[in-house]
Amino acid sequence: MTDDLRQKASAVQANAYVPYSNFKVGAALRGKSGAIYVGCNVENVAYPEGTCAEAGAIAAMVAAGETEFTEAYVIAGSPMPVTPCGGCRQKLAEFGKGDVRVTMATLSGAEEVMALSELLPGAFGRAHMEG
Ligand code: THU
Repeated sequence: MTDDLRQKASAVQANAYVPYSNFKVGAALRGKSGAIYVGCNVENVAYPEGTCAEAGAIAAMVAAGETEFTEAYVIAGSPMPVTPCGGCRQKLAEFGKGDVRVTMATLSGAEEVMALSELLPGAFGRAHMEG
């Protein structure tokens, strides 16, 4: 079930543009429709302008007309599974429910699975803005 996400995330990971960190990350999201959206990190010589793999996958999903995903997969060439950065946790929480499974993986096959609500407990959400 997660195999298709892993395959797509690893394929896009190879395309990451990382001349500064040399750290390639790939992300795949399964949209509610079943379609899979991918993204890789894209760095910039003005370092803060770089974008994370998760952000790229979210942008691809929204550009395709979907605003909810049901599963996520993040893969990197790291010794241990890479967890999404703080900003990406908030970005993911915008489009995924708390029980969405996020699988973090290494190229050598180690995997760790967490729910989105575990990655971002006490997430700031729309309810906080309701009067
Ligand atoms: N990065 C991601 O793309 N996703 C993560 O979850 C962690 C970090 C990228 C940002 C930067 O291009 C490189 O990894 C090193 O931080």
